[in-house]
Amino acid sequence: VMFEPMFEANPSDISIKRTSKITVVGVGNVGMACAQTILTQDLTDELALVDILPDKLRGEMLDLQHAAAFLPRAKIVAHTDYAITAESDICIVTAGARQREGESRLTLVERNVSFFKQIIPQLAKYSPNAILLIIANPVDALTYVSRRLSGFPTNRVIGSGTNLDSSRFRWILADRLEVNAQNVHGYIVGEHGDSSVPLWSSVNVAGVPLLQLLQNKGIHYGKHTQEEIHRMVVDGAYEVIKLKGYTSWAIGYSVASLVKSLLRDQRRIHPVSVCAKGFYGIEDEVYLSLPAELGRSGIIGILNIPLSNEETQRLQQSANALAQIQRKLDI
Ligand code: NAI
Ligand code: 2OP
Repeated sequence: VMFEPMFEANPSDISIKRTSKITVVGVGNVGMACAQTILTQDLTDELALVDILPDKLRGEMLDLQHAAAFLPRAKIVAHTDYAITAESDICIVTAGARQREGESRLTLVERNVSFFKQIIPQLAKYSPNAILLIIANPVDALTYVSRRLSGFPTNRVIGSGTNLDSSRFRWILADRLEVNAQNVHGYIVGEHGDSSVPLWSSVNVAGVPLLQLLQNKGIHYGKHTQEEIHRMVVDGAYEVIKLKGYTSWAIGYSVASLVKSLLRDQRRIHPVSVCAKGFYGIEDEVYLSLPAELGRSGIIGILNIPLSNEETQRLQQSANALAQIQRKLDI
């Protein structure tokens, strides 16, 4: 110890209690956006990074460590061996292939399932009590795969799902209304991607139903405008990928927000990918996003938002599309 002790103490008696450890698998664009957002928001005492590329992994670890003088104190470790992840509270999986320009997320499924067969059993072995937070795409199918490969209970296997799509939705509305997006409450549910479903019937600004609020002001958001806004949400990711090659900052913040709700037991409601069997007439054990209450034990419950008939139908269509993909998986 560098400093003189204040009192006589046997160093072995001083146990420093570590309160949280987060693992990020995959140190690409998304993994590093998650890592840096988690560190700047002081969400963990220890961060473990894993990847298959040892040089890139060590480079990213050192680069983060070099920011120590500007960040809340956290231990940052990295290794290709999963032993480094032992006893994590949350394991975030961003490893895998990403879409090329114009490609759907669903085209990635087979490649990424084969990666997950290497990754998930290792995480489950070293952190049997962790919450698995899946990010790699197609995130809904891979969350299902992670549940199967880990054997973890459903409350501890979560996909980031439409938490990001909902932020895109809230941003578009907030921008038009010139109000803070945090006061615009609205959910996109279903698949993270092309068949997602916007829940227009429950969108509100500070508790006031949005469509009614606009109508009182003589503004009519008819079907066409609603479809156009939803299209902007769906196309948002494709546009960013076309422009910069990948998406990273928004998913980084989305993940940090989920981590905060989970680790700090915030009991906030997030639309995330969960086992949807039994909700809204969905009969398959299919993974898709529904508004879920998140806390230290993972998913605490699903909020049963009343849906219009059309919204229920579209959600069931999204569930059918995802169930078909799940059935074809080799796991
Ligand atoms: P990237 O190519 O920059 O990084 C992927 C990283 O995974 C690489 O460092 C690679 O070495 C590593 N990797 C590959 N196989 C591995 C294995 N078996 N074990 C450990 N590491 C492995 O890709 P990027 O841009 O970071 O995207 C990662 C994933 O996140 C993609 O599937 C992408 O579609 C998805 N994504 C999901 C979002 C969501 O909202 N759920 C948002 C943005 C991206
Ligand atoms: C996103 O929505 C590509 O899934 C990724 O940003």
